[in-house]
Amino acid sequence: MKTRILVWDLPTRLFHWLLATSFVGAFITAEPEYFRDLHVLLGYSVLGLIGFRLLWGIVGTRYARFTALALGPTRLKRYLRSLVTGAPEHYVGHNPAGSWVIVGLLLLGLLAGATGYATYEELGGEWIEDVHEGVSNTMLALVVVHVLGVLVSSVLHRENLVRAMVDGYKTGGPGEGIGSTHWLIGVGVLLAAGVGLWSIL
Ligand code: HEM
Repeated sequence: MKTRILVWDLPTRLFHWLLATSFVGAFITAEPEYFRDLHVLLGYSVLGLIGFRLLWGIVGTRYARFTALALGPTRLKRYLRSLVTGAPEHYVGHNPAGSWVIVGLLLLGLLAGATGYATYEELGGEWIEDVHEGVSNTMLALVVVHVLGVLVSSVLHRENLVRAMVDGYKTGGPGEGIGSTHWLIGVGVLLAAGVGLWSIL
């Protein structure tokens, strides 16, 4: 019997919405020069948040762990085939297509942050800035794919995935949910993000 189960813990959800806000904010404030401090601050947030997520992917809850990502090429093929046959395979955590996009977003976020830092600190030539711009534009394109993918799979699976990333709950079998939302670590993430930004300012 399917029921409402807790899938995304609070740290994962906070990470997601803080990352989305920081990335979009950093993109919007890339020009003009007047916004440079804010842009750099948001870029550091992207790096800090992804740093946290890398750790949480190792020690976090069941579906937040990297071992829960469905990255095998066979699974991806089977999942994509199931989409076109009209009987989409259901995943409690990230589905195979989403898993690949998420890995891409995390890697591009790290690369965008690192090249942004190198540009700001003048650690390389003009080319670093070009790479920073190219990586950030590629990341924006992947974000568009990500959001479209989320909307399409919400329709196909008749499950509101956006709401799940807000309240943490999805549909699944009893025993498939996680035990705790880890709100204390969630509050810690928020505080660390706040204090980190404040100290940079
Ligand atoms: C309105 C904009 C966005 C919406 C509605 C949205 C929605 C979602 C949803 C529903 C999931 C869970 C997917 C699943 O069920 O497998 C997710 C995961 C994710 N999204 Fe987004 N997203 C948005 C913007 C962004 C942006 C801008 C970024 C990156 C800059 C991003 C990065 C990620 C990452 C890294 C995950 C994996 C979360 C984790 O496991 O930690 N998202 N998003």
